[in-house]
Amino acid sequence: MTPTIDQLLVKKTDSLETVLRTIDASAQGICFVVDEDQKLVGILTDGDIRRAFMNRLTLSTAAVEVMNTNFTSRSIDTPREELLQLLDHRIRHIPLLNETGQPVDYACIHRYNRFPVSEPELGGNELEYVTNCIKTNWISSAGKYVRDFEAMVAEYCNVPYAAAVSNGTVALHLALDALGIGKGDEVIVPDLTFAASINAIIYCGATPVIVDIDPTTWNICPKATKRAITSKTKAIMPVHLYGLPAEMDAIRDLAKKHNLLIVEDAAEAIGSIYKGKKAGSMSDVATFSFYGNKTITTGEGGMVLFQDEETYKKAIVLRDHGMDKNKRYWHNFVGYNYRLTNLQAAIGVAQMERIDDIVARKIELGKLYNEGLKDIAEFQLPASFKDVTNTYWLYTIVLNDNCELDRDTLIGKLQQNGIETRPVFYPLHAMPPYQQYVRDEEYPVADRVSKRGICLPSYLSLQPSEIEFICGVLRKQVSLVKL
Ligand SMILES: Cc1ncc(COP(=O)(O)O)c(C=O)c1O
Repeated sequence: MTPTIDQLLVKKTDSLETVLRTIDASAQGICFVVDEDQKLVGILTDGDIRRAFMNRLTLSTAAVEVMNTNFTSRSIDTPREELLQLLDHRIRHIPLLNETGQPVDYACIHRYNRFPVSEPELGGNELEYVTNCIKTNWISSAGKYVRDFEAMVAEYCNVPYAAAVSNGTVALHLALDALGIGKGDEVIVPDLTFAASINAIIYCGATPVIVDIDPTTWNICPKATKRAITSKTKAIMPVHLYGLPAEMDAIRDLAKKHNLLIVEDAAEAIGSIYKGKKAGSMSDVATFSFYGNKTITTGEGGMVLFQDEETYKKAIVLRDHGMDKNKRYWHNFVGYNYRLTNLQAAIGVAQMERIDDIVARKIELGKLYNEGLKDIAEFQLPASFKDVTNTYWLYTIVLNDNCELDRDTLIGKLQQNGIETRPVFYPLHAMPPYQQYVRDEEYPVADRVSKRGICLPSYLSLQPSEIEFICGVLRKQVSLVKL
């Protein structure tokens, strides 16, 4: 239940203890401070109170001494559209005032039911570091933030070498090219992934071999992978779909036995862990995407991680037009311009400074969905395993066969409640450019998951009460259809 305005009000003479109790009871993380005439004079968030305690104020300090007087409010007759435009992850509550300045209601994202699927969170040092690039003129791809960003990601994933690139798609292309994969080689790729995975293989002139996914993990099926190996197979490209690591033990066993390379598409899985190993550290070369909807972002951006120095050195030459590092304008290879700018890397550094917190919040969000949906028999939830950490890039459910609701009808109902969703990707084998890569195989699992899967809002500032609301809408829709 959303609290009423009265449940969010405190008097300016009230102690911080009262303020804390009010915030705790409403679970909104905020309260509005009024004077003796009931006029709004300030707001207080739980963050303000934390800072007050750090400045050695106590529970008996009066609200007036700590409150924030620089706040956003609007008149009660402000049009809904205007309020919706103001509400975002920073301004989550707007007090609405009568003509004498007394709060009589409030707007908040929850009440206005606007839940995007994803949204970047740039609340750390992003602005400062980008400003620093502009002030110092280091806006291109040379610059300290690029090097720092690479070092931070390499250290975080525990891999020796990292090269920042302009997006996750070219990261895959560079990875394959640096490994020498090309014409005549086959690369095995799962049917259910974003098209960039297969496109990168085609860019190299290699032949993608599409295999079905596992019904539990929705990731590449090791059995189907085994069946697809031929004398031409050069590499396997597991994709950690929606943040859940693929079954890497089985993939690594196959690669070892058949002397194959592994290129790990970890675009959706920074921070995920498989048996003690971070996503990005379980292959010859691995890639990340830092597109605006990813767990951490640089707007557009990517990273390639390497275990082997020689491949890394080749990749950074290819990234920079194939130009000799010691002989300017001398090109040893047909290279590319796949560099990331210092401006983008500056954002990446600020995001990486908060990676532990960001990943912890993503995991928490997934757990809350798991808890809220666990008893709905109509839904298959993301698989969980004791020694695997899913970071729930997009929290995804699949409608079981007993679900009488059609997937697209459910998406429409969620939309009516302001809940944005995404259908799961189309299977690669079904799309025109990739049909030529279909062997005699059938893809029943990918077909099913693609037709019945829904990705739910998974942005970082999603609140527990909001997840509860979304789960409530899902539950209601499923039960209504049974009536
Ligand atoms: C699995 C996967 N691979 C590759 C990419 C490509 O990344 P980018 O959009 O940064 O090019 C994405 C991005 O959405 C992805 O989800």
